[in-house]
Amino acid sequence: MKNEGRNIYSVFDEMLPKSAKENLLQQHAKVLWMTGLSGSGKTTIAKQLEKILHEKGYLTQLLDGDNIRAGINNNLGFSDADRIENIRRIAEISKLFLNCGIITINCFVSPTEEIRRQAKEIIGEENFIEVFINTPLSVCETRDVKGLYKKARAGEIKDFTGISAPFEAPISPEISVKTENKSVEESTEEIINYLIPLINYKA
Ligand code: ADX
Repeated sequence: MKNEGRNIYSVFDEMLPKSAKENLLQQHAKVLWMTGLSGSGKTTIAKQLEKILHEKGYLTQLLDGDNIRAGINNNLGFSDADRIENIRRIAEISKLFLNCGIITINCFVSPTEEIRRQAKEIIGEENFIEVFINTPLSVCETRDVKGLYKKARAGEIKDFTGISAPFEAPISPEISVKTENKSVEESTEEIINYLIPLINYKA
């Protein structure tokens, strides 16, 4: 057979490199990893961020619980093991987008240092930007956009992050956005200001 003896490494060697895709798209690819409590504003900010980047001519992909947990990860719940597997798969998916030259914006609670370390390891430190959407639990709980905190307090949802499961704030995120008393636009701008010099194409 023609391809006999060909191993996986040679296939990767023959694939077009990330740099060729970045050249085509005229952008540098990164993964923005937004972590924070449920209701902290991750997805709201990410949507605004994606809109602005699109207007500026950047190609992006937004990944969040809605498109991931409803699809490829629909067999996973919120046990420690399932959260680890959730984030592992998301990190692998992000790596595919990254190698395709696309700026990937991820919105996942990713509640522990260990889980985020795993994601960073899979994606590669140089392309991983940790963004802490830093909204106090009391604010998230007051907003309670999805009504989940009320259910968690009533014991109807177990292992709920911030209530009956831990959330470890990142120790040294690249960006930390305090959303309290800030508009979505202001929060987004802080991220844009950090990001643009990194994705702006310089051959
Ligand atoms: S993660 O912990 O595995 O990173 P992920 O970001 O995918 O979580 O999903 C979190 C979203 O799922 C929350 O915003 C919330 O809407 C919903 N959710 C349902 N049950 C839980 C739970 N037990 N803990 C946290 N979030 C939950």
